[in-house]
Amino acid sequence: MRKIAIIGGTGIYSPEALSGFEEKIVETPYGSALCNIGYIAGNQVIFITRHGIGHKTAPHKVNYRANIWALKSLGTEEIFATTAVGSLNPEMQAGHFVVCDNVLDFTKSRINTFYDTPERGVVHVDFSYPYCPMVREKVIKCLEKTNITFHKTGTYVCTEGPRFESAAEIKMFAMLGGDVVGMTNMPECILAREAEMCYSTCSIVTNMAAGISPTPLSHAEVVEAMGKSIANMNKLIEAFINYNEPTEATCNCHEALKEFGGFKL
Ligand code: HPA
Repeated sequence: MRKIAIIGGTGIYSPEALSGFEEKIVETPYGSALCNIGYIAGNQVIFITRHGIGHKTAPHKVNYRANIWALKSLGTEEIFATTAVGSLNPEMQAGHFVVCDNVLDFTKSRINTFYDTPERGVVHVDFSYPYCPMVREKVIKCLEKTNITFHKTGTYVCTEGPRFESAAEIKMFAMLGGDVVGMTNMPECILAREAEMCYSTCSIVTNMAAGISPTPLSHAEVVEAMGKSIANMNKLIEAFINYNEPTEATCNCHEALKEFGGFKL
């Protein structure tokens, strides 16, 4: 049995495949997390909507630690997260999916570790390749069976938000090698690594980034573009949950904290 979690970003609030799940509020040392729990094809599946019901939680206010702790406490092994992004790369157009393989972290105010108290101690975790190669391979193999236009690699730039970026910031991120820009993949991704779970994201391009887009950016534009990709994302989520082939890639996400005696809840 696989133990899978889906973290739904903007636009992904109740994937069809996950209807009829049991709602459970999970208490953690960082606050509570609302988890929807069910079983599909013999796999345990947990769904969390990142921005909360009705999209009320801003990217910099998401309780990333509570969400990831809750998933770990429920036994999750693999996390597949969706993220809406703007594109800095002319090859990545609205509606395309991007299976990012690296990150540039420009967040500023978020707590990005479970290890910030004397009781928990200090850890330094390898983050050379932020996303789990095994989960990435599964997502890519699922996408290959669809007619969705997608990119197998990309660098995700995470900004603090909640504002969109300036044109100069986007120019700088492009010079640094960024492909897409969003506000939520960090610290979610590093917390999953600290908690020794496999984590990967699939980003959905909703707009060209600031200064590249000919028009000012708006949340309405993002939501409207996401609306057009929801059916595709639902298909991908379902395929990912039902994925049951071996992968060529291996990973050691489950022992990311081995040097420090392993992650403890
Ligand atoms: N910038 C940051 N986050 C985003 C964007 C963007 O252009 N589009 C969707 N999420």
